[in-house]
Amino acid sequence: MTLRSSVRTRTKLPDVGTTIFTVIGQLSSQHNAINLSQGAPNFACDARLVAGVTRAMEEGHNQYAPMTGLRALKERIGDKIADLYGTRYDVDSEILITASASEGLYSAISGLVHPGDEVIYFEPSFDSYAPIVRLQGATPVAIKLTVPDFTVNWDEVRAAITPRTRMIIINTPHNPSGKVFSADDLQQLAALTRNTDIVILSDEVYEHVVFDGEPHHGMATHPQLAERSVIISSFGKTFHVTGWRVGYCVAPAELMDEICKVHQFLMFSADTPMQYAFAEHMNDPQTWLALSAFYQRKRDLLQTLLAESPFRLLPSQGSFFLLADYSHFSDESDSEMVKRLIVDHGVATIPLSAFYADGTDNKLIRLSFAKDEATLRAGAAALCQVKPR
Ligand SMILES: Cc1ncc(COP(=O)(O)O)c(C=O)c1O
Repeated sequence: MTLRSSVRTRTKLPDVGTTIFTVIGQLSSQHNAINLSQGAPNFACDARLVAGVTRAMEEGHNQYAPMTGLRALKERIGDKIADLYGTRYDVDSEILITASASEGLYSAISGLVHPGDEVIYFEPSFDSYAPIVRLQGATPVAIKLTVPDFTVNWDEVRAAITPRTRMIIINTPHNPSGKVFSADDLQQLAALTRNTDIVILSDEVYEHVVFDGEPHHGMATHPQLAERSVIISSFGKTFHVTGWRVGYCVAPAELMDEICKVHQFLMFSADTPMQYAFAEHMNDPQTWLALSAFYQRKRDLLQTLLAESPFRLLPSQGSFFLLADYSHFSDESDSEMVKRLIVDHGVATIPLSAFYADGTDNKLIRLSFAKDEATLRAGAAALCQVKPR
């Protein structure tokens, strides 16, 4: 029985209903499917982190943290970014600890985008960008990445820019395609935005998961882009603790002022004991420097195991994901394929169409390799049983 309200409501997000993620989640649990769908790791985080949070709680760090975050943690972040990418952010005015990357995205978009503005983003896309833009009374403008290599067509971006364009949202390394930005992409973006008031919102939650010895070309590596960028990152992704809900955001002070105004009233501050633990953990740079090799082993294992499957894998240059193509052996839609994989083979994946507002179906499914070895082996074994249809 549900409680019925007599209050009439008018939705701000008419297109947001039961997502394919919920449908797949329910079907997967009914069939007890092996989970290669979600980006959440199924293995333990470093025990030192749990000990650090526990100690912080025992030592009484259980009340509000400072609004912009624990100074010690912000100092570690500032040093890390300066060492890796060459831009030095001011600890007091340009670094904000957020309650997850998701909160950082919301606070940044809400603080900087006004009703009537346009925001360019790329599809396939992480699911929160367009709805957050809509909630500001602004218009999300989707540009499709080219298939199958998932690069940006910069001429299309140039054509989409209007006097109302306030923001361009970038995501590198990219969820769901595993594509990473090149140095040339940064040059193109810098050229397009020069002498404009366009802000770059750069979702870099997978900044430490870039493969094959390549560098992460984030906005902080490019001084001209750093001046107009808000960069978002996630401790959940970097330290295998997606449930702890802590991330951070860096931006020039003028932009950060506006972001903080939203953060102040949305969250006020992020979880205190976690911030103590992260500050201590970040004394050891290996905690992030070893991450690319750690995930590359997982990517390589999954690729090797799937060599015998009927799927053709697209290259993954970073992130927790790779895409598998089945267009050569089946006409099923990607949602039908994903349902068949769950029901007949007991393995859960995500249809790429879920990442497009218009449901574009390229006959690609997304696999997550942020899983322990047993799960990767079991999932791959199930996928190798798939028969052409
Ligand atoms: C591209 C991208 N951005 C942001 C997030 C959200 O990160 P968080 O869990 O820190 O909110 C995710 C999580 O899957 C993601 O894939």
